[in-house]
Amino acid sequence: MNFEIIKTVIKNRRSYKPMLMNGKKIDDDIINNLLELADWAPTHAHTEPWRFVVFANEAVQQFCNDHAALYKANAPAEKFETAKYEKIRHNGDHCSHIIAVYMKRGANPKITVIEEICAVAAAVQNLLLGAASLNIAALWSTGGLTFHSAMKNYLGLREEDQMIGLIYLGYADKAIKEGSRIIPLNEKVDRRG
Ligand SMILES: Cc1cc2nc3c(=O)[nH]c(=O)nc-3n(C[C@H](O)[C@H](O)[C@H](O)COP(=O)(O)O)c2cc1C
Repeated sequence: MNFEIIKTVIKNRRSYKPMLMNGKKIDDDIINNLLELADWAPTHAHTEPWRFVVFANEAVQQFCNDHAALYKANAPAEKFETAKYEKIRHNGDHCSHIIAVYMKRGANPKITVIEEICAVAAAVQNLLLGAASLNIAALWSTGGLTFHSAMKNYLGLREEDQMIGLIYLGYADKAIKEGSRIIPLNEKVDRRG
């Protein structure tokens, strides 16, 4: 029974473009519940490296304005695209919350950076699955300046920390198209024995 429930949630979780969200707000209690799920990700040596900067209410638009300004300030003049600038600026127009997720590098040298990043990715998936189970639309985005040092500075990360993504959360009126996987599973699995 549990397997069928978790299978349904996992297979029906879809990425949802923030511009297609409907502007309805998610209760902060629900956001806290999602963060609690994220907090139960596996973690080698209990470093628990996931960190979240939660933008809500007017801070959502402020973050998008700031993100767009960072893009403008850091894109080389010949690469700057007005359409991209506007997309970044308006990405939060219809969403409820944006959560910036990063890996806070711990002091335990036995735990590698890749392990820390994997743990935070697992935390993100926990959050996304919780959202899917509540019919909350979500997108894990690494677009814009997510991985740029300017974003690290803006959010107050240290040099050794690592951005993992921006999670856009909201509600949606329409179900998104069915998911697809292009590479057959058997091509991803090497069975031995
Ligand atoms: C690390 C990571 C970064 C992603 N960044 C973006 C992004 O910047 N923009 C976007 O539209 N989708 C992004 N996605 C979502 C993927 O596009 C999406 O997972 C993929 O299309 C499969 O669709 P599904 O999530 O509905 O199964 C990202 C996903 C991952 C795991």
